Amino acid sequence: MIEKDFILKNTDTDSLKNGSFTWQSPSNIALVKYWGKSEPQIPKNASISFTLNKCHTITTLEFSKREFPSNDFSIEVFFENKLNDEFKPKIEQFFKRIVKYLPFITEYNFIIKTENSFPHSSGIASSASGMSALALCLMSFEKHLNPSITETFFNQKASFLARLGSGSAARSIEGELIVWGEHPEIKNSSDLYGIKFPYPIHENFKNYHDTILLVDKGEKQVSSTVGHDLMHDHPFAHQRFEQAERNLSAMSKILQNGNLEAFVKLVESEALTLHAMMLTSDPYFILMKSNTLKIIGNIWEFRNKTKSNICFTLDAGANVHVLFPEIEKEKVNTFIISNLVPLCQNNQYICDKVGLGARPF
Ligand code: DP6
Repeated sequence: MIEKDFILKNTDTDSLKNGSFTWQSPSNIALVKYWGKSEPQIPKNASISFTLNKCHTITTLEFSKREFPSNDFSIEVFFENKLNDEFKPKIEQFFKRIVKYLPFITEYNFIIKTENSFPHSSGIASSASGMSALALCLMSFEKHLNPSITETFFNQKASFLARLGSGSAARSIEGELIVWGEHPEIKNSSDLYGIKFPYPIHENFKNYHDTILLVDKGEKQVSSTVGHDLMHDHPFAHQRFEQAERNLSAMSKILQNGNLEAFVKLVESEALTLHAMMLTSDPYFILMKSNTLKIIGNIWEFRNKTKSNICFTLDAGANVHVLFPEIEKEKVNTFIISNLVPLCQNNQYICDKVGLGARPF
């Protein structure tokens, strides 16, 4: 698929005066990270993520035909049943980027009602699940105008649109492992949309667990968008992008051969490299908190003592994602509750695992 294939041809909207579509869409956690991009939302390196099961956004897109055609957008956003203007600029920017592919969006008044399964301001990024849920609602609209589109096209275009809202959202349409970004060893991979990992996944990675420790629920001092921008003049950017490409090759093999020891090493190295990029940006910044480091130390100690395959990863924040295989769940859960949960803000954590992707409501 190339960019032009995503431009909607049928623009006759007479059959849709008003109505609504609802989707539930998951969050995801990257194993090889996306950090650095060029216009329009093209990643500097390919990334791969586990789709999550419990952490999701539910979005309803209500629409009614506008009385008079206009070139601007008519959007109202409700977050958890309250009118919310905070998200509006990001959604308007998203609509500006996608109008070329969905020209009908200027013809309607839209009301977007959205809520997350995870606590408000938990520090868990909601842009992946939020933007993918909205993209899927818009694809349901397109499907109505053009019922013959295939499921593959539906998912690819949903990912393509979601990417234009937030890069990582491109990986939040399907499960269980998604690659976004062109990579020579990943068949059919693309910078334009995410694809399911195209090779057989080893049993060890089925039902993989991700317990998210909420270390700091405050607003981040530096947004992902600003962080990505700082990769433009970053002294280590080039080496980082090359390393990520190599890491994805290695990860692809690990996911197929089930080597848990290699998985642990690679996932943790990716997380620390992401934060090393932040530490060495100009201006530099730190998103980890002291309890982030204490948790990492405790995980390492437990792993050394018990030979567990537990590991951690981080996204652009202080929270820690604790990853472990299904067969270790009892012993690791006991450790998490006794040694890691006391380091979380208000003892808050979320037990999640790998999920299968978005679904309509
Ligand atoms: C650290 O997708 O939030 O989570 O494209 O600007 O919306 P934008 O950025 P975003 O970046 C996510 C970065 C990350 C790593 C990852 O998910 O791969």
